[in-house]
Amino acid sequence: MTRQVAADDAGIAEAARLLRAGALVAFPTETVYGLGADATSEAAVEAIFRAKGRPHFNPLICHYCSADEAGEDVVLGGLARRLAEHFWPGPLTLVLARRPASRIRQLAGAGLSTLAVRVPAHPVSLALLRAVALPIAAPSANRSGQVSPTTAQHVLDGLSGRIALVLDGGPTEVGLESTVLDLTGEPAVLLRPGGVPLEAIEAVIGSVRRPLPIGLAGNGRPTLQSPGLLVSHYAPELPVRLDARMAGADEALLAFGPAPPGAGLVFQLSGRRDLGEAASRLFGGLRTLDAEGRRLGLRRIAAMTVPEHGLGLAINDRLRRAAAPRG
Ligand code: TXA
Ligand code: MG
Repeated sequence: MTRQVAADDAGIAEAARLLRAGALVAFPTETVYGLGADATSEAAVEAIFRAKGRPHFNPLICHYCSADEAGEDVVLGGLARRLAEHFWPGPLTLVLARRPASRIRQLAGAGLSTLAVRVPAHPVSLALLRAVALPIAAPSANRSGQVSPTTAQHVLDGLSGRIALVLDGGPTEVGLESTVLDLTGEPAVLLRPGGVPLEAIEAVIGSVRRPLPIGLAGNGRPTLQSPGLLVSHYAPELPVRLDARMAGADEALLAFGPAPPGAGLVFQLSGRRDLGEAASRLFGGLRTLDAEGRRLGLRRIAAMTVPEHGLGLAINDRLRRAAAPRG
């Protein structure tokens, strides 16, 4: 049985106790809900992969309550420190060289010589990380390949019975996962657009290398640099059509701004075309259109175009993955 408790002091203390005992606990971050486990315990980390049905080649992000704590397990160079000062706590994940004496189990980093680390900004995440006093490995709290959870109910929809506890801290604010940046070489490489816009990062460290947007790059395989970035991901059950300008009666429309008439169902990401509002509503919107659309017998989700700047980069990345051929 999975219990859901409020993210108050008692709930956080209970979650910390369970994590220290090796159990799986889902908790809110400012981006999406994470599925946490003690990153120093082989059994706990293995349990994450099992609960999610996640392939072992896909490494996990380790969460810390401060940059200094992260510095115990990875080498924080000058660039990393500058980024940490600007964006931590916050939705930025840095891929860095793992220290030989790192406490993190090899399995958490998929056996790579690098490790992805971040300091989340949500007060519940920070309180929990302080109470546990251990690095916490936490992927998004969904079954592998499915849409990331932005509420405690989303977590239960996918993982009920597979994890010990969900800390309910209400809907998450950013709504998209963290930006993942590889700092192991020069220049820095954007592995996953996310909650910190690329423009903000480039304002701090200069130009960042951007791989081709997915769908243009290719073959559906994960790249060597970011083994986890499978092209088909965030997949609702209904197929997704991109760049919709019109919508049919058999389509569920994911609207961004004024919507064309005719759709069988509409979910508005942001009537005023605000990218922050759209990001925070994206995953909930996909879930709603998928569930309601199927109930109504609709055939697919049609997503309107979102501009390719700011948080739009991350929104479009998730939509392209949701629309990618499955399998
Ligand atoms: O916002 C977030 O980042 C959320 C919250 C819970 O913190 N977490 C999250 O984790 O999105 P996950 O596991 O769903 O995505 C982590 C991404 C994957 O694409 C993975 O391949 C990549 O980070 N990653 C992790 N470690 C890596 C490494 N050492 N090198 C390259 N990519 C790595
Ligand atoms: Mg994920």
